[in-house]
Amino acid sequence: MDLKLSNKVAIVTGASRGIGKSIAENLILQGVKVAIISRSLEDLNKIKDNLNSENIICFECNITDYNQFKSVVNQIYEKWNKIDILINNAGITRDKILLRLSEADWDDVINVNLKGYYIASKLVAKYMLKNKLGKIINISSVIGQIGNSGQSNYAASKAGVEGMTRSLAVELGSRNININCIAPGYIKTDMTKNLNDNIINNMKQNIPLNKLGTSQNIADLVSFLCSDLSSYITGQVINVDGGMTIK
Ligand code: NAI
Repeated sequence: MDLKLSNKVAIVTGASRGIGKSIAENLILQGVKVAIISRSLEDLNKIKDNLNSENIICFECNITDYNQFKSVVNQIYEKWNKIDILINNAGITRDKILLRLSEADWDDVINVNLKGYYIASKLVAKYMLKNKLGKIINISSVIGQIGNSGQSNYAASKAGVEGMTRSLAVELGSRNININCIAPGYIKTDMTKNLNDNIINNMKQNIPLNKLGTSQNIADLVSFLCSDLSSYITGQVINVDGGMTIK
């Protein structure tokens, strides 16, 4: 299906692997010009070489560094003269039960998963406001809604992202900027690769569709939310979780 995204300009954070990589690849296939960002330029360049597309530029950038991100956003604007789409996807976990959870574990997760999304949104919204057009899509997690033992820092960051999404949707709606959240359930990526078979089988029993999701499942919804087909949707959290959170 042609989502009419050709020549739109997008930024995808955390695009070196997993969900972010699938999102970037999907958008490239739709003719979007995509700036991919992560901590490692080497992995990003491999993606660019594989896709063999002129419509892709790579930036090594820590999303928690305001000035570094500002410089990246300015370079993207100079090259393509607009920014239509921001996908806030980069995220980390530092799972530990409360009494073992250090201040650094707390701060790292909140900084990347929540402050990083604020930094990117603020810097990119400036250009979207100029154009009176934009789509921001934040990747949260079902854990922000249901909680999980050992993930208080992660759950707080993801619940925060969902609250931030609703506030910014109110703030930016009159300027034709849609901002929504996708909350994935368990998706097969590096973030979940260390879970043992027992845990995975237990998880499946709690998922009505009886399987883990794929990065492509998330990327497909991102493309829809980037398109005009979703023009009357804003401030929403859409779960892509195989039905896990309805049980
Ligand atoms: P991943 O660990 O495979 O990839 C994370 C990406 O973020 C990598 O490209 C990494 O370089 C980048 N990144 C991390 N910290 C960064 C920083 N400070 N600056 C720039 N880039 C940084 O993760 P995955 O599984 O693809 O997850 C993507 C998003 O989806 C995350 O926000 C995660 O919390 C969320 N999510 C994932 C689920 C899963 O089951 N895999 C479930 C629910 C949500």
